[in-house]
Amino acid sequence: MAPRSVDGTRLPGAQHPSAVEIDAARRALDLAARGPETGPNPRVGAVLLSPDGTVLGEGFHRGAGTPHAEVAALEDARARGAQVRGATAVVTLEPCRHRGRTGPCTRALLDAGVARVVLGVPDPTAAAGGGAAELRAAGVDVVEGALREEGEELLRVWLRSMRRGRPFVTLKIATTLDGRVSAADGSSRWITSAAARAHAHSVRSRVDAIAVGTGTALGDDPELTARTADGGLAPHQPLRVVVGRREVPEAARLHGPGGELVRLSSQDPAEVLASLWEREVRHLLVEGGPVLTTAFLRAGLVDEVHAYVAPVLLGAGRPVVGDLGIGTLADALRLRTVEVRHLDPDALLVARPQEV
Ligand SMILES: NC(=O)c1ccc[n+]([C@@H]2O[C@H](COP(=O)([O-])OP(=O)(O)OC[C@H]3O[C@@H](n4cnc5c(N)ncnc54)[C@H](OP(=O)(O)O)[C@@H]3O)[C@@H](O)[C@H]2O)c1
Repeated sequence: MAPRSVDGTRLPGAQHPSAVEIDAARRALDLAARGPETGPNPRVGAVLLSPDGTVLGEGFHRGAGTPHAEVAALEDARARGAQVRGATAVVTLEPCRHRGRTGPCTRALLDAGVARVVLGVPDPTAAAGGGAAELRAAGVDVVEGALREEGEELLRVWLRSMRRGRPFVTLKIATTLDGRVSAADGSSRWITSAAARAHAHSVRSRVDAIAVGTGTALGDDPELTARTADGGLAPHQPLRVVVGRREVPEAARLHGPGGELVRLSSQDPAEVLASLWEREVRHLLVEGGPVLTTAFLRAGLVDEVHAYVAPVLLGAGRPVVGDLGIGTLADALRLRTVEVRHLDPDALLVARPQEV
């Protein structure tokens, strides 16, 4: 059992977080969630506590190029005139030890004289990881795993993308009840309801890039923008990626206001992901059509499916997915449902592969 004082504050050398530190870890997660979901960096929060458990400063990371959460919390503490020497830093992610766009957090914590660090999730990245070991080597008391599960859930997309070294892929499909994306004559607008489309726009505003195949780009002339409820452009616009060898015409709406248009003259999903990774894309939304959808599924490169299903039957027309090379039911690609939402009159089913 870890040494604790009667009021739950920590005693020197405690190997587990105290009740006060767990409360601070929860607060740090709330702070982390205020950071942007898009961009190459994780959402991180930090709270600085005095040895008696008083909050000295708080901070979170606001996106690439801005101070990391630990540094923001140190700045906050200084602005409050608080003494941080001997303090405990409670952070949702292991402090980084690399110099990227900003300096290493381990150095900032050591320079400030922080005596103890309670962290949630270990950093899986080769460049940034190892912060805990460095702090320990410098004599800091480090406790790992505080509210780790909650921290992993908040960072789910970022962690998976870093572990795989490729963008996290969410596949969006919008179909009739019988799995069609267009009618026999090719008409496809709109199968799903305004509520479903509004939800899909809110998802677009939380990803780094949206991809469609050239078939959809040429056939539907989409804008691929993220729109708000009043029809205006959302503040964050994802990259608009068109995959395939054919050209996008000059007059296409894809050249209009919105995110940067990225043309990838490739038919290989892995190549597409590698080139988007180079552009710091960590979350890609694949929006079809059926050829591109099938290619990503066949390659095993889908991490989450958003299936908007309208209570509509066509009986003929394009199916949402082509041949996946599955000949028997035992080989079916079975997903795990993680959410079902009613978007009147449609339904959204969110599902993930078994291992995600
Ligand atoms: N309801 C929905 O969720 C939804 C979403 C999107 C589209 N749609 C509908 O789908 C229809 C278009 O479907 P689609 O399947 O023809 O279009 P698509 O998947 O958007 O584009 C297919 C084209 O992309 C290129 N491509 C990219 N990766 C490829 C790969 N791995 N293998 C082969 N070709 C690849 C090929 O063109 P190149 O020759 O140029 O390389 C191919 O012809 C439209 O009617 C649209 O309305 C529905």
